[in-house]
Amino acid sequence: MGVITLLRNEQFNILLILLRVKKIYAEAVESLKEKNLYRKLVEADIVYKNLISFASNDYFGLSQNVAVKKAASDAIKKYGIGSGGSRYISGNNSLYTKLEKQIARIKKCDDSIVFSSGYACSIGVIPALVCEGDLIVADRLIHSSLIDGVKLSGAKLIRFLHNDVAHARRILLENRAKFKKCLILTETVFSMDGDLGKIEELLNLAEEFNAILVSDAAHDLFLPPLPVSDRVESRLLDSCSQDQNSARPELKLGTLSKAVGALGGYVAGEQVLIDYLRLFAKPVIYSTALPPSILAAVIASLKIIEKKNIGKKVLKNAEYFCHLMNLPKPETAIVPIILGDSSRVVKIAAKIEELGFLISAIRPPTVEKNKARLRITFSSEHKKTQIEKLAKALTETLKNL
Ligand SMILES: Cc1ncc(COP(=O)(O)O)c(C=O)c1O
Repeated sequence: MGVITLLRNEQFNILLILLRVKKIYAEAVESLKEKNLYRKLVEADIVYKNLISFASNDYFGLSQNVAVKKAASDAIKKYGIGSGGSRYISGNNSLYTKLEKQIARIKKCDDSIVFSSGYACSIGVIPALVCEGDLIVADRLIHSSLIDGVKLSGAKLIRFLHNDVAHARRILLENRAKFKKCLILTETVFSMDGDLGKIEELLNLAEEFNAILVSDAAHDLFLPPLPVSDRVESRLLDSCSQDQNSARPELKLGTLSKAVGALGGYVAGEQVLIDYLRLFAKPVIYSTALPPSILAAVIASLKIIEKKNIGKKVLKNAEYFCHLMNLPKPETAIVPIILGDSSRVVKIAAKIEELGFLISAIRPPTVEKNKARLRITFSSEHKKTQIEKLAKALTETLKNL
């Protein structure tokens, strides 16, 4: 066989392999369509323009707040659009210092670090803290960004049943001694179920087993502290509700893209840990800094949240809806209606859209198999009549579909 024929055969084989690989990707997409799990991107500003949204995480409507928008546009006039570099090179605008101090104060911690998103924060913080030979004990329902952080770390992951502190304790009793460092992962508000994480109890476990609790407060409403005696019982516990005790082994993660209405993520905690993470969490080093306009907007948003205590209004709206729908009293702004069947969930959300409202149809893998659901989120901006109309539309649609 000549050299040219040999080359042709080789090229043919490469082509064949490429075709097979492409087929695998195409089949993966087809399989999602068959299972009713295909996701389609929608031009939200156009398609959802006339709908009343009960699907946003902008819990206080601050993305549209006049003062917040002005802070952003003033910063654009002063600093321009992009930050021009990563934080350690040239992108560390002085607004970062101001914002990190503000977050530390609100979260009652020594210090904080701002990331480009909550996702970047999770995949930066967890692998910086633990590695192979370490243990992570995590609630079964933690967010995908935390799971990706765990995978990147290489630490051993063991999950406990959702909010089952006794199960977490059994896992720690059996395994903690075999590993060097240990993290316990949970959320203060579970994003798809809308229930509260057991922060206080898990923090006690962290102390007992020489671990660090990493709690993700992405969906917090920044509710004011409750008296210590009421906390565990009422479970209306917010991550910023703990006493100033920076020595407790907790790192508070969160996002600036939901209740804060802008963009970014943060980790807050004890000085020694924050000093370490500033140097070892890779997204702080190897990613371009946030635009100054976003930092200015977040500072303005947080000022409003601190001053106005608007979390209560959101909860009231969620409670009113649950009362109208005969659902259990909600603990947060997120109300799930678990239906199980993915295709039914999609059909109902589409019908509700026809009736003028936007709600989310949540399907696996975002939630567990057979746990597809409607997810309805409330804002302090919703009017009573809008909530009543949505409840009526949903009651009818659930009966008929
Ligand atoms: C619980 C939780 N953690 C983290 C994130 C990621 O935050 P961000 O949207 O700022 O990347 C989300 C966003 O959906 C979330 O729900």
